[in-house]
Amino acid sequence: MVMPFYITTPIYYVNARPHLGHAYSTIAADTAKRFHSMKTNDTYFLTGTDEHGDKIVQAAKNENLSPRAYVDKISGLFHDLWPKLNISNNNFIRTTDQSHMNVVSMILQRIFDSGDIYFSEYEGQYCFGCERFYTKLELVDGKCPDHKTEPETIKEANYFFKMSRYQDWLIEHIQKNPDFIRPERYKNEVLAFLREPLEDLCISRPKSRLKWGITLPFDSNFVTYVWFDALLNYVSALGYPDCDLYNKFWPVAQHIVAKDILKPHGIYWPIMLKAAGLPIYQHLNVHGYWNIADSKMSKSIGNVIEPLELKNIYGLDSFRFFLMRDMVFGLDSNFSEEALVQRVNSDLANDLGNLFSRVLAMAHKYFKGVVPEPDPEIEKTSKIGLRMAALDTVAEFDQHMEVFAFHKALASIWHFISKMNKYVDITAPWELAKRKSSQQQLKTVIYNLLEGLRVVSGLVYPVMPGTAATMQKHLGLDPEKQFYKLELLQAWHIILPGNKLPKSITLFPRIDIKKDKAYSMAKSSETAEQLTIKPEITIQDLNKLDLRVGTILKAEPIPRAKKLLKLEVDLGEIRTIISGISEQYSPDDLVGKQVIVVANLKPAKLMGVLSQGMLLAAVDKDISLATLDKPVKPGTKLS
Ligand code: MSP
Repeated sequence: MVMPFYITTPIYYVNARPHLGHAYSTIAADTAKRFHSMKTNDTYFLTGTDEHGDKIVQAAKNENLSPRAYVDKISGLFHDLWPKLNISNNNFIRTTDQSHMNVVSMILQRIFDSGDIYFSEYEGQYCFGCERFYTKLELVDGKCPDHKTEPETIKEANYFFKMSRYQDWLIEHIQKNPDFIRPERYKNEVLAFLREPLEDLCISRPKSRLKWGITLPFDSNFVTYVWFDALLNYVSALGYPDCDLYNKFWPVAQHIVAKDILKPHGIYWPIMLKAAGLPIYQHLNVHGYWNIADSKMSKSIGNVIEPLELKNIYGLDSFRFFLMRDMVFGLDSNFSEEALVQRVNSDLANDLGNLFSRVLAMAHKYFKGVVPEPDPEIEKTSKIGLRMAALDTVAEFDQHMEVFAFHKALASIWHFISKMNKYVDITAPWELAKRKSSQQQLKTVIYNLLEGLRVVSGLVYPVMPGTAATMQKHLGLDPEKQFYKLELLQAWHIILPGNKLPKSITLFPRIDIKKDKAYSMAKSSETAEQLTIKPEITIQDLNKLDLRVGTILKAEPIPRAKKLLKLEVDLGEIRTIISGISEQYSPDDLVGKQVIVVANLKPAKLMGVLSQGMLLAAVDKDISLATLDKPVKPGTKLS
């Protein structure tokens, strides 16, 4: 029996614009959903945004917006991006939706009533970036392994969730269901973590510290911890507790996340479900990280990749294909524009694109674009054919796609494409065309090739839905008629002889990275944004800025941060300032220079160093520091 399919992405924090990493998880979920829609009409795909917590309040402050206005703005960026990447989500949840907040309150109350939530004083190491306490064991050299910053010691009375009670149950559940967390390395990681005693989870934040959250139903002085709120989106979006969607899809739920949020999904979430008396999800599918030249993508390093830009330059399906083909699901991958271009040129333009135009050109040349009738006798007796190979490919593809091994599924399709290319070479239709006696053979060969392309068009549908539709249109099939359904891909003789084929097209033009507009160049279009003047401010707003003259005393590069320099600046007092100017200025250019510093900017840690201010600069394609036209005493105020 074919089961319904429910897939979710993480709901993304709205403290940053969508980037390549978010696009990858969402395209992976879209690919999985589209694959299952080849088998069943009962699919449901959820994505959305995570909008409560410290991080968001901080980001809103930085933009001078209220949390509400800020979350609306950034959530809108995610919401509006997905259709442009052909994402077929059925729902977009926001944790600020009232219906979601009601479910969070209901579950909190239920777990509180059952005695799994208690009140206690706690002192611990808190990372504001992660919005959670860390145990000593989890810290690396005393620092948060993710943010590389030292956590702060916080002492607070809070509510705690008795996770420890469920530790043995969870270990047993994972062992009894070996593919509950996959690939296996992440299952092992969770089991390794569970070898240590599990600490209870602090699930509240006092309102004196954080107001932007969901109030605890049993104590209005607290809001709930952002993860307790966020994880419940997966059921609230289905209309839990009593909506048909929930009854149909929750029993088959599967999540996609990256390794960064393995612990909340592999440990907190199943335990929350168990404590609340809900069934546990089926599978947690964990992928690795896209890195840039082996380092993490981050705003402060300045290496964040914008998915929309890539799509605009290389085409949507090429972009989707590259992401799904190049990353081994579960492992990290390095993103580079060169690798993308190489993949598009070799797999798409050469292998698939050439085959497609070659076959259609022959069908037009030899049969005036009318699908020829294959000869059943030749089909029966021919030693080489495509039908069995197509059937094997569909079976392999199905197997790999079921376990999210997208790269392997695509490799199987391309193996078949290469077989088709060989079939053309071996059968040499141009030779058959020369002899009257081989006309039946020619018809059969061209028919087989058209059928092979039909199967390929269906198999590429989950990753490249646009290409699938274009191919089917040019094979004379009506894309509305769902020619991507698996049962049709397992069949042969689907294209009707006598059908007229439209004129062929180039599916994927070759890219010349030197001549075409590269992503790095397109990034300069960001400057268009700068031409828009920001809303008016009052003199009071302006007076909030404390601008001072600073003299740079020292400048040095920061290891692993391509764009950053660590500066020592005299402002009347000595400050450390991290500035993203190393591509424009060498340390020697800077020492002695007088610059303008925003002196009252809240200090922030960048690459583990506390930056106490910011230099003013004109930022266009180049960066030019704002300086003064005669020497001034360090620390002088600008007005
Ligand atoms: N809000 C939480 C998730 C709550 S889910 C109940 C969160 N948000 S996030 O915006 O930080 O998104 C993290 C997720 O974005 C990762 O798990 C992954 O899906 C995706 N990615 C972010 N950066 C990534 C890469 N560099 N590479 C691949 N995916 C990454 O955590």
